[in-house]
Amino acid sequence: AEINDGKVTWQSPSNIALVKYWGKKENQIPANPSISFTLDSCRTTTTLSFQKKKNAEGFDFELFFEGEKKESFRPKIRKFFERIDAYLPFLKDYRFKIETSNSFPHSSGIASSASGMSALALCLMSLEKQLNPQITSEYYNRKASFLARLGSGSACRSIEGGLVNWGEHKNIPGTSDLYGVKYPHEVHKNFKNYQDTILLVDKGEKQVSSTLGHDLMNGHPYAERRFQQAHENLDLLKDVFKSGDLSKFIKVVESEALTLHAMMMTSQPYFLLMKPKTLEIINKIFEFRERTGMHLCFTLDAGANVHLLYPENEKKETLEFIKSELLQYCQNNQYIADHVGEGAVKL
Ligand code: PMV
Repeated sequence: AEINDGKVTWQSPSNIALVKYWGKKENQIPANPSISFTLDSCRTTTTLSFQKKKNAEGFDFELFFEGEKKESFRPKIRKFFERIDAYLPFLKDYRFKIETSNSFPHSSGIASSASGMSALALCLMSLEKQLNPQITSEYYNRKASFLARLGSGSACRSIEGGLVNWGEHKNIPGTSDLYGVKYPHEVHKNFKNYQDTILLVDKGEKQVSSTLGHDLMNGHPYAERRFQQAHENLDLLKDVFKSGDLSKFIKVVESEALTLHAMMMTSQPYFLLMKPKTLEIINKIFEFRERTGMHLCFTLDAGANVHLLYPENEKKETLEFIKSELLQYCQNNQYIADHVGEGAVKL
């Protein structure tokens, strides 16, 4: 079809990894497979307006973040366009306006690259679909995930809802290094509507960009063993998702978080991204579990903020504990109450 102009809006969530992606090869190929929960409340909304140009020389786009023109995002988007150009032949034929906003607070330390890149990838796929109306929804989502991966690796896990795998794993059919796929096996009811309360410990800029972080795994002394461990942990989680064994779930998830930080502490240069408050929170969680037998656990990304994961049926007691004992460690008592969501939506 001939499309002269148009406008499309997608809303895409963030995700939280249970088995972490840390280390990559050329072309955003992960060094190990990962799995994440897709979140619900932490979202980016992106509107893409497009208009056909007279000439097809170079990329032409304007960027607005929360209503204001944002020059500082240009290099990142330009790089994204360069990477996806080969897969979207129409990219240079249009002039784009990209308007984006986040549901979570500015510079909260919550990474918006996963939600942001997946929302933009989905918008671009809408234009592809208008140009090629025959493409199926399966192709649409898969290619959106493929494109999102080229923007930010973990973004490929933000298209589908629930549990999403990215990276080939021999015991999880359908997995690919090129895009995220919905976890294909049955998941025990214990994981239904799993909760993620995000504690904003440190709202400062991240000390280490994920680009640098992944690079640190090249030549890292423990890299090979770590990549192997991610495969093993995915096998363990496969059993856990079937049986609903939350104690085993906790062992894998917390170990993954600490291993991610251990990799950063043992690289050259080394980084220490946990703050004293991060450790206070972790110790309080251990005490709470001892005392109550509840199944609250933590995970971390490449920063000081703590994601608190717990089952829905323990929500009442767990939230009481979080409010009375953990919020004191957050900047201005700030936290985000989130839970597992259904994936990206077109508005
Ligand atoms: O998608 P990136 O390149 O920003 O890497 C994300 C890495 C972690 O968030 C630390 C782990 C993960 O799997 O999401």
